[in-house]
Amino acid sequence: MAKLTIKDIELKDKCVLLRVDFNVPQDEQLNITDDTRIKAALPTIEYILQNNPKRLILISHLGRPKGKRDEKFSLKQTAKRLGELLGRPVGFLDDCIGDEIEKQIQGAGKNIILLENLRFHPEEERNDPGFARKLAQLGDVFVQDAFGTVHRSHASTEEITKYLKSAAGFLLEKEIQYLGGAIKEPRRPFIVILGGAKVSDKIGTIENLLPKADGMLIGGGMAYTFLKASGKKIGGSKLEKEKLDLAAQLLKKGEALGKEIILPIDNLVVDNISPDARANIVGEDIPEGKIAVDIGPRTVELFEEKLKAAKTIVWNGPLGIFEIDAFSQGTKQIAGFLAALEATTIIGGGDTAAAVVKFGLEKKMTHISTGGGASLEFLEGKILPGIAALTEK
Ligand code: 3PG
Repeated sequence: MAKLTIKDIELKDKCVLLRVDFNVPQDEQLNITDDTRIKAALPTIEYILQNNPKRLILISHLGRPKGKRDEKFSLKQTAKRLGELLGRPVGFLDDCIGDEIEKQIQGAGKNIILLENLRFHPEEERNDPGFARKLAQLGDVFVQDAFGTVHRSHASTEEITKYLKSAAGFLLEKEIQYLGGAIKEPRRPFIVILGGAKVSDKIGTIENLLPKADGMLIGGGMAYTFLKASGKKIGGSKLEKEKLDLAAQLLKKGEALGKEIILPIDNLVVDNISPDARANIVGEDIPEGKIAVDIGPRTVELFEEKLKAAKTIVWNGPLGIFEIDAFSQGTKQIAGFLAALEATTIIGGGDTAAAVVKFGLEKKMTHISTGGGASLEFLEGKILPGIAALTEK
């Protein structure tokens, strides 16, 4: 990597400021319902602690509190959970900047401390230099491990790197290695599976990956705009009218490049989207009034046929409304098929990761990204500001 990584910097006797992404889901009682992101930060946290730092200070955001203090978005529970995972107490301070916080940090000795949600201050999202400088004052070196947030130009991802030597943590390095490596030098055949509700979310990814991949399989809500663009009837299925021309152009581009773009050849359809709706399978053409909610069994077979020889697979976006069990079969079967393949399987974060976890297959994939928006922007080939800002080697 052209940027400094954690192994390139001195940690001993240093006050290490570590940006993590502890933006985890919580229920109404504020219990953490998925601690994957906290676990994903452990290798970096443990490595820093093994290297005898003066102290370790963690900073993060949680949710979108819009620049105001809101207990619903407090990081308190994540400090507790991190302490349980590490088997040692993690201190928690109820703000992230200010004289009082600095005093408390000084008095905390060699401990590990998590500071309260950065986004309680509007300056964080404004990438404010004054705020970034105050954060930087808390440490001697900065480590960025919040992959899920590096697509944001915020004070704790971009501006802060102007004031401290800034290196990538292990999670960030791993994400770049898998997502970047898959695109740059994939083992071939390299197949991309795209799904999710909207074509508009995936245009950049299609444009970036189509020339690099050997084939593209499209399912989920976005498939129906493509099917309509290729002359099929889609009934009442999800359609982005204003993207029809673009979908037609992308299909043509695929043809011109000699790259197969495979669309569903059968579909599970309902009259209305509800868990107990009567569902049946139809072919490529969807009758008037019917709404497609999943790919059908012949499409699953076709996708498996295309995937069986693949050596690298990148998957971003579920292939149906997997949150409803009755409409989750397509996504589930493809996830199961990938899990059994001898291929590098890279799963985009967000919904696709949630689907793979729902089916209990997360340990069977080569890499599941911790970033939703960040993994998508990475796959679009964009330069992510939080990575670009790190110190060069
Ligand atoms: C995420 O959950 O994708 C990251 O934590 C970034 O959150 P944001 O979309 O609110 O910036």
